[in-house]
Amino acid sequence: MRRSTRRIATLFAVATVLGSAADAQSPAPLTAEEDHRRLLDLLGIDELRPGRDGMNPEAANAANYDEAASNPYPDLPDPLLMEDGAPVVDAEDWPARRAELLDLFSREIYGYVPEETPAVTWSVTEEREAEVAGVPAIVRDYVGHVDNSAYPAVAVDMEMTVTTPAEVKGPVPAVLSFVFRFPAGFEPPAGWEPPSPSATERVLSRGWAHIEFVPTTVQADDGAGLAEGIIGLTNKGRPRDADDWGALRAWAWGASRVLDHLEDMSEIDGERVAVEGLSRYGKAVLVTMAYDERFAAGFSGSSGEGGGSLYRRDNGEVVENIASSGEYHWMAGNFLKYAGPLGWDDLPIDAHELIALSAPRPLFMGTGTAEEGDAWVDPVGIFMATEAASPVYELLGEKGLPDVEFPGPGVGLTDGTLAFRQHRDGHSNHLNWPYFLDFAARELGAKAEGGASGR
Ligand code: GCU
Repeated sequence: MRRSTRRIATLFAVATVLGSAADAQSPAPLTAEEDHRRLLDLLGIDELRPGRDGMNPEAANAANYDEAASNPYPDLPDPLLMEDGAPVVDAEDWPARRAELLDLFSREIYGYVPEETPAVTWSVTEEREAEVAGVPAIVRDYVGHVDNSAYPAVAVDMEMTVTTPAEVKGPVPAVLSFVFRFPAGFEPPAGWEPPSPSATERVLSRGWAHIEFVPTTVQADDGAGLAEGIIGLTNKGRPRDADDWGALRAWAWGASRVLDHLEDMSEIDGERVAVEGLSRYGKAVLVTMAYDERFAAGFSGSSGEGGGSLYRRDNGEVVENIASSGEYHWMAGNFLKYAGPLGWDDLPIDAHELIALSAPRPLFMGTGTAEEGDAWVDPVGIFMATEAASPVYELLGEKGLPDVEFPGPGVGLTDGTLAFRQHRDGHSNHLNWPYFLDFAARELGAKAEGGASGR
C-alpha cells in the first residue's frame, strides 16, 4: 500500500515538472547551468574564473602539480583564534570556537540546513540471510520515507542496506558507508571490477555491522536536481537562497537520519558508529562528522578540494572547479564568490578547520598516490590540512599527527586519534581499509578480528 502511494507521488512529481512551469506547486525545472547563472545573478557576479584542466597537461589552464608552486597562500587561518582575535587557550574554550567555525562553514561553504526538517520513517523492504566473508549475516534493505505532506510534489525515499553478523552476543560497532550507485543505463568500463574484498566483507570479517547508504536517494548529485530531493522538498520546489544547503550537507543530513535508526537497533552499538566515504563522499564524511557529534569515528578517503585539501593550495583541483556548474550543487551558493570577485585567501576558514571539527573523535584521512591516478585530490594538501588540525586534537587532550614531512605511500601515521595514510592504490579506499579498521577498533575500544597485513 505504502509503496504504491509513493509511486503515485513520484509520478505526480514527474508529471508536474513536465506540466506547467507556471504552476506554483511544481518544482522549478532549471538546468544546472540556469540555476548556476541564477545564483551568480543573486550574488551580483558577472563571471567566475575558469577551473583547472585535470586531463590535458598542455592546456593553458592545466592543473598545477609542481609542489614548489603549490603554496601561494601559506598562512592558514588559526583554528585556535576566535573571530574577535581572542585566543582559545584550553578545552573549555573550544565549544565556542567550534560553534563559530560551524557557522562559518554553513554560511560560506556548505549552507544551512532549514530549522525544521521532515521526519523519516524507515521500513524494511527485504530481509535475507547471507554469508559474507565466511560470516553468517542478515542483510536488510530499507527505505527511509521522508514525510512530504507539506509538499507532495517532491517525494524523497532514501535507500540503505544494513548487514549485521547473525550471531552477535551484544551490540556491535558499525561502519556507515556512503556508496556510489551507477546511474540507470550506465555501463562501467570493460574490465572494471569492484574492489575485492568489498567494504562489507572487510567490516563483517571484523565482526562489525556495515551499512551501505545511497546518498543520491536523499539528494541528486546534480544542480538540476536541487528543486527535488530533500533540498527541493524543504524549499517547496523553489530554487535555493545563497546560504541554503548544498548536496554535501544534504548527504550528511541523510547519514544522520540513518544513525537515528541504527541507534534503535539492538544489534548495533549506536555509540560506536563510524562513517566512511571516498572522494565526493570523502568530503561528505568530513561534513557529517563536523555537524553530527554522535558519529564516533570517520574514514575520509581522497576527499580533495571541498573536503580535506586546503583551498589555499594550488595543486590539482581548485576552488574554481568546485564553483563551476558541474559541482557547485555540492556547496552553498555563497561559495561561488571565492571563484569570482574574491580569492581563495579571502575564505575566513580552510579545510584544516573542517577536519578539526571532528575532534576529539577518531578520524582517519586517506589518499591514494599520484602514480596510480590520485593527483587531482592533492594528497600533500590533505596531509598539510590534517597536520594543521592537530593542535585542536591536542587542545582536547588527544594525540594528533606527529610533526613530520609528508610521509609518502605505505607509511601510516596512525598512532594518534587523528590519522593519515597514503596507500599504494589510486582513487580508492581499498588498501587503507584494514588500517582504518585497526585504528577504529583501537580507538573505539572494540575487539576486531583479522588485522592489517602491511600493504
Ligand atoms: C571529480 C571532482 C572531485 C571529486 C571526484 C569524485 O574528480 O573534481 O572533487 O572528489 O570527482 O567524487 O570522484
